[in-house]
Parts: sequence; structure tokens; C-alpha cells
Amino acid sequence: MRERRIVELTTLNEISKLVNSTLELDDMLREIVTLVCKNMLVDVCSIYLIENRNLVLRATQGLKRDAVGKVSLAVGEGITGAAAAQGSPAWSGKTSSDPRFVYFPETGEQEYSSILSVPLISRGNIIGVINIRTREEREYQPLDIQFLTSVAGQVSGAIRNSQLYLKATRNLHELITLNEVGKIINSTLDKDKLLQRICEMGANVLNCKGAILRMLEDGAMPCAAEYHESSAPVSNEMYAMEKEIAEKAVETRLPQVVSPDEHNPYGKRSRRLGNLSLVAAPIILQENCTGSLSVYTYGDPNMFFSVNDRRLLVTLTSQASVAIENARLFESVKKAQSELEQAHEELMMKEKLAALGGMAAGVAHELRNPLVSIGGFAQRIVKLYPKDLPDNIRQHMDRYVGIITGEVKRLEHLVSEMLNYASPQQPQLQRLNLPEFIDEVLHSIDRKPYRLRGVSFETDFSQDSRDLDADPDQLRRALLNLIVNGCEAMPHGGVLSVTSNTRKGKDGEGDYLEINISDTGEGISRESLIRLFDPFFSTKATGSGLGLPITKSIIETHKGVIKATSTEGEGSLFSILLPKQNHI
Ligand SMILES: Nc1ncnc2c1ncn2[C@@H]1O[C@H](COP(=O)(O)OP(=O)(O)OP(=O)(O)O)[C@@H](O)[C@H]1O
Ligand SMILES: [Mg+2]
Repeated sequence: MRERRIVELTTLNEISKLVNSTLELDDMLREIVTLVCKNMLVDVCSIYLIENRNLVLRATQGLKRDAVGKVSLAVGEGITGAAAAQGSPAWSGKTSSDPRFVYFPETGEQEYSSILSVPLISRGNIIGVINIRTREEREYQPLDIQFLTSVAGQVSGAIRNSQLYLKATRNLHELITLNEVGKIINSTLDKDKLLQRICEMGANVLNCKGAILRMLEDGAMPCAAEYHESSAPVSNEMYAMEKEIAEKAVETRLPQVVSPDEHNPYGKRSRRLGNLSLVAAPIILQENCTGSLSVYTYGDPNMFFSVNDRRLLVTLTSQASVAIENARLFESVKKAQSELEQAHEELMMKEKLAALGGMAAGVAHELRNPLVSIGGFAQRIVKLYPKDLPDNIRQHMDRYVGIITGEVKRLEHLVSEMLNYASPQQPQLQRLNLPEFIDEVLHSIDRKPYRLRGVSFETDFSQDSRDLDADPDQLRRALLNLIVNGCEAMPHGGVLSVTSNTRKGKDGEGDYLEINISDTGEGISRESLIRLFDPFFSTKATGSGLGLPITKSIIETHKGVIKATSTEGEGSLFSILLPKQNHI
């Protein structure tokens, strides 16, 4: 009796030393079971811990080692389960004739007969069970039970300390990880890159195979970024399920979990998807939910995202939400800045043009009268030729006078275009019958020289493109510019076509008339196309380069738009869109 007491005290003392020397849980449990076997002269000692609501074999001396971590029994199942369920020792002298006993063949426990299980209790919570077994049948005495209970008391405290230590190190690890995460996600302001990084971080921090980030947009939750470790495509069923959980996380503002476990409402679907485990957390910034981040893994039927994992993901999403907001703000600042720059450029251009126009108008005004005189006097010179002027001199004189009048005409055209451009007139609107009007414009041109070059003219006006409010003089000028340009672009002939039709305005705006003027000429190079409407841009020897800018300004004062498309070597198309009814 006394001897036994000594053994017990020695054992407890050794256990106490042992539990104080290490905080590594698995090592400690292994040493405890060895020590108990040796000192209590029993064949088996095992420790089961509660994990995910079940008792999982965590250490054993006597049973097969490779069963550790694999054998799991429900609380209440077998004699070990009974000890956990009732919170007090349970035993059987001969398990083969005990109906409560449940065999787990993978442990090799068939050879053992007796069993004594004692619950491990820490602060009133059952955290596991320790049991001993012997080969021969054995009736356990109160002293045996008392002793194992004392061992259990020591072990429970140590397990709790070890778990607290584990939690503290995990917290520290989380803090370090989150600090790293913070650094990484805050290192970019490019929103797409940032979302991608958040996905990768989410998957890495929780040791998962992938992550999906969704952003709320007009009540929908489209996928904004994703990361998948494997290159295999993600199934539609998996996407659908992830979306469902993500939406739930956003709706409840709480993380949502999917696990293969049969208690999980999504368990069946998870098992069908290869034991999918998933946790989705809402992304919340200042009370506003802006999206969700889900991380997932698969293949492990026992996988379960713990409260800790969920907390970690929530911490990560709250860090992410700030970074996303920063990137969003940065994007909008960048956009505003580029809009400002563009507006500034447009203003500069307008001012430059206005200054240029003003100067041009001044020069034009000064040139107009002398030009009229030069033209007039040149004509008079012809009349003043002496009658006896030799023929060869007369021919020379005619040629020179011809050049003078030709150049004067060209300058007069330039002067009038410059004045037009510099001081545009307010349109005097009239209701026009557009097809008739265009025909009239076409007939006002001297088309003979173009026809001689092989240019033919075509028109096609849709029935409904009749009534248009426009200033006839200005519209005539605009159309003439475009028609003449088209004809001039076809030195070797081609087809000039003018068509019109009606276009419906967007969002219930009124109707528009579209006028298309196209040619099959030489086309416009890409560089010229950019500068087409710039004043004084011309590729022609005698061109003013004011035809198109004037045309554009006329169309714009009619609240219309003009655009040009062209293919070099094939021809060009100028499209004008004008509101049918105008109030300028
Ligand atoms: N239909 C077209 N096909 C090819 N190039 C064109 C066409 N329309 C315009 N261009 C190009 O655009 C330039 C500018 O045209 P714009 O009408 O403003 O001036 P211009 O025709 O050169 O001079 P002006 O109109 O005073 O005779 C032209 O010189 C020409 O290079
Ligand atoms: Mg022109």
C-alpha cells in the first residue's frame, strides 16, 4: 500500500516536472502516456482531445502509433466517449462482454481487455479523456480511479497552458503576418494589382488553395479578382456556391463558413465538390460593406475554418478595405487631374486660335481693298494694250495678267475664309427641305471639270430626312467645303456620294438628320486625320486649310457633330449629325 503510494507520488512528481519543462503539446502528451504506462504497470495509456466536437486520439503508448490523429469518436461513443459525456470516470473490467465498448480495429486494441477512462477537465470544460488498458481482465479499484484522476488533473492544466501558449504564439504569428500583409497591400495604389495581391495574401495567410474577391456594384457582386494555386479551371458549381456564401457574408456582415462536416448546412455540397472548405468575410469600411473576400481549400474531409481563422480573415479584410478605398480615391484624383489637364489644353488651344483668328482677321481686312484694286487694275491693263502691240508680247502680257487675276482670286478666297473663321455669324434658322437643299447645292457647283476627270455624283435621301432647322447660307458653305474636298481628292475620277437619313436620339432626345458625304479618292493618312480640323492645315498647294475648321464650327453652332473616317487609297467619309429641330 505504502509502496503504491510512493509510486503514485513519484509519477505525479515526474509528470509535474515534465509538463513544466516543455510547452510543445504533442511531445508532452507522448511523454505522459509513456510514463503512466511504465509507472502504473499497464499495457496501454492513450490521450484523446476534443477537436471539432469529437474526441481525437492525440497520443498513445501501446496502441498503434499511426492511428494517432486518425481515430476519432463522438462524445458518448464507447467507454472513452462515455467518460467525456458524463464528465466522470468510466471503466470496464472485460470489454469483450461490455455492450458499451466500441472497437477501432486500426488501433490494434483487440488484444486488450480492461479499460479505465477519466475525463480531462480544465476550468469546468471537458477538453479530452485519458485512459489506461491492460491485456488481462482487471477490476479497477477506487484507488486506481483516484490515481488516474490525479494524473488527469495535472495533464489538463498542462494541456491548457500549452494551448494558451499555442494561442499566444499564433496571435504573435498573426500579428507579424498582418503587419507584412499591411505592408504589401499598401505598397500599390493600382486598384487591379491591389485586389490581386489581397487575394494572394488571403490564400497564403490561411494556407489555402485559392481566393476570390468580389466588389459590390449596383446591388450585384461581380468577381473583381481571383487567385488559384492550381491551373485547373474552377467549376461553375464552386463559383455559384462561393457567390452564394459571399452574398450571405455581405448580407449578415459576418464571416460564413462551408465545410465537409455533416453539421454544416453546405456539407453535402462541399463533399460533392471534393470536400471544399471555404470561409467568406465581408469587406467593411466605415459601416459600408463594399465587397467580400473568400478563401478556399479542398481535399480534407476534416478541414474546418476555426474561429481563429475567421478572425484572421476579418482582420485582413478590414486592412484591405482601407487600402482599396485609398486606391479608389487615388484613381478618382488621377481621373480628375487628367480631365483638368485636357480642359486646360482645350482652353489654351481655343485662346491660341482666337488670338490667331483675330490677327488673321486684321491682316485679311487690310488685304481686302488692295486686292480688289490689284484685280481691277490688272483687268484694265488688258484694255489699255496699244493696238500695234506685237503678238508675242501680247501673249506674254495675257499670261501675266492671267496669273495676277488667278492669284488675286485665290487670295480673295483666303481672305474671305479667314474673316469667316475669325468672326462666325449667329445662324439664322429656316425650316429646310434637306434633299431639295442638297440637290440645289450640288447644282450650284461647276461640276464640269470634275466630270471631265471621271468623277460621277450620286445621291440617296431617305424619305423621312426632309425637315431640318438650319441657316441655309452656313449649311451651304459647310456642304460645299466637304463636296469640293471630296472632288479634289479624286484627281483620277471616282464617285462622290451624298446621302441623308434620320437617326433616333439617345434617351428620348429628339430626332437627328445624318448627312454622309463620301468619296472614293486618295484617302487621308493617319497623321493628317488627327490634324484635319486644325486651322491652316492643308496638303494642297493652294489650299487655305480653313475649309474644314469653318465647316466644323458651323456644324457645332447648329448643335451638331461632324466626324471623319478614311482609308488611305480607298476614300473618305464625312458624317454630319444635326438635330432636326433647333432652337439656337
Ligand atoms: N475628302 C478628302 N479626301 C482626302 N483628303 C482630304 C479630304 N478632305 C480634306 N482633306 C485633307 O484635309 C486638308 C484640309 O482640308 P480643308 O478643306 O480644311 O483645307 P483645303 O481643302 O486644303 O483648303 P481649302 O478648303 O481652302 O481649299 C486638305 O488639304 C486635305 O489634305
Ligand atoms: Mg477644302
